[in-house]
Amino acid sequence: MDKLVVSEGPPLRGEVPVSGAKNAVLPILAATLLTGESCTLRGAPRLRDVNTMLRLMEGLGVPTTWDDDGVLTTRVIDEDVATAPYDLVKTMRASITVLGPLLARRGRARVSFPGGCVFGPRPVDLHIKGLRALGAEIDIEEGYIEARADRLKGARIFLGGPFGSTVTGTANVLMAATLAEGQSVIEGAACEPEVTDLAEFLVGMGARIEGIGSPRLLVDGVDELHGTSHCVIPDRIEAGTFLVAGAITGGDVTVTGIRPDTLTAVLEKFREIGVDVTEGENFIRVRRRGPLLNAEITTLPYPGFPTDLQAQFMVLLSLADGVSIVTEKIYPERFMHVAELLRMRAQIRKEGPNAIVIGTGWLSGAPVMASDLRASAALVLAGLVAKGRTDVKRVYHIDRGYERIEEKLSALGAVISREDDPEGP
Ligand code: EPU
Repeated sequence: MDKLVVSEGPPLRGEVPVSGAKNAVLPILAATLLTGESCTLRGAPRLRDVNTMLRLMEGLGVPTTWDDDGVLTTRVIDEDVATAPYDLVKTMRASITVLGPLLARRGRARVSFPGGCVFGPRPVDLHIKGLRALGAEIDIEEGYIEARADRLKGARIFLGGPFGSTVTGTANVLMAATLAEGQSVIEGAACEPEVTDLAEFLVGMGARIEGIGSPRLLVDGVDELHGTSHCVIPDRIEAGTFLVAGAITGGDVTVTGIRPDTLTAVLEKFREIGVDVTEGENFIRVRRRGPLLNAEITTLPYPGFPTDLQAQFMVLLSLADGVSIVTEKIYPERFMHVAELLRMRAQIRKEGPNAIVIGTGWLSGAPVMASDLRASAALVLAGLVAKGRTDVKRVYHIDRGYERIEEKLSALGAVISREDDPEGP
């Protein structure tokens, strides 16, 4: 098992290229199950979660190959299988996105019911409700979602839940609706750029979708979809993570190959905190000129501030002047990083879905344990400025969603290395 060893280093400087978005490529790979033809994807990141998805696809009769230029090609060799097994689904919840496509094209799906995760229960009731509305018969048996349908039928569906819209739920219902008979109207659809990217991929396959990017999607079902080729959108969360790295170290960092319009709420928050932000067509540059200021952050569905950058911003606020409040409206229990940041001498008090962050201006290095993907990214960021050395253990979490993070940070001047951790896991 590896760990990342991070030491306090110089202000980070330079340019860092952003990879393709994990949360776009995973449902897009699932969407390739909607056709018997090959699809090609450019810009797919080489991540642990992508490898898990490729294993799942192979098990579903769709092996994939990467060429030397990083282009990923799918090939359909068997459309009789319809099971997503427990051992893969339990390691990656995004596996649930094969449910809609399998049902729509193969008429049945057997997908292991995803469990909770470290940041609380993560139900899939809205996925099931949406697919049932399209006419699927769905039972839960022996820990599996068993779904059947001869031909799905278009319907009007409201997908909002107690915490707002659902990203993978929208993906599942949208994918299923593309092959349904007649028109579907999905109200309360998630508007995340990754859902938009999926919808554009589906249109490339011949799907008829209107309202892309809005909470109201109109889908006119078609009989068949065909293969297509697509370039995955850049990862706004990876970009945001490197921008925080630039800001906390008092550096000058430019992320390239990014769409600034997907980070509007985040860039506004950087400016409020006193970070200088410049944006161009496909780059964002941050520089810190003065002290960091306290702020209030509330996570919300897109275009609000993303929950996937909450932990990283908590590190930034720990270094700011004054008291900040972070409110988590998507996953009220997503605060696993707080206890580890306390070990690094941050002053944070958790009260229900809020964290009160008392900025102290400094952190102290410590051995810390990654508990989930974004929490581990936050701990690496904290290590960049903490006095002394920080060992971030259980690095496999970070490899799920960041491509070569230590190489990208080193190129900006960070003192970071990957080492074997004999004390693993
Ligand atoms: N929810 C329900 N019922 C459902 C589905 C969701 O009540 O059937 C609730 C959830 O419990 C949560 C809220 O709705 O409170 C939003 O959850 P959502 O379904 O949107 O989350 P997700 O689709 O499972 C995706 C990302 C997450 C990201 C969230 C929120 C993928 C593969 N995952 O998860 O990404 O945090 O949307 O934006 O797209 C990450 O990359 O680290 C990550 C966790």
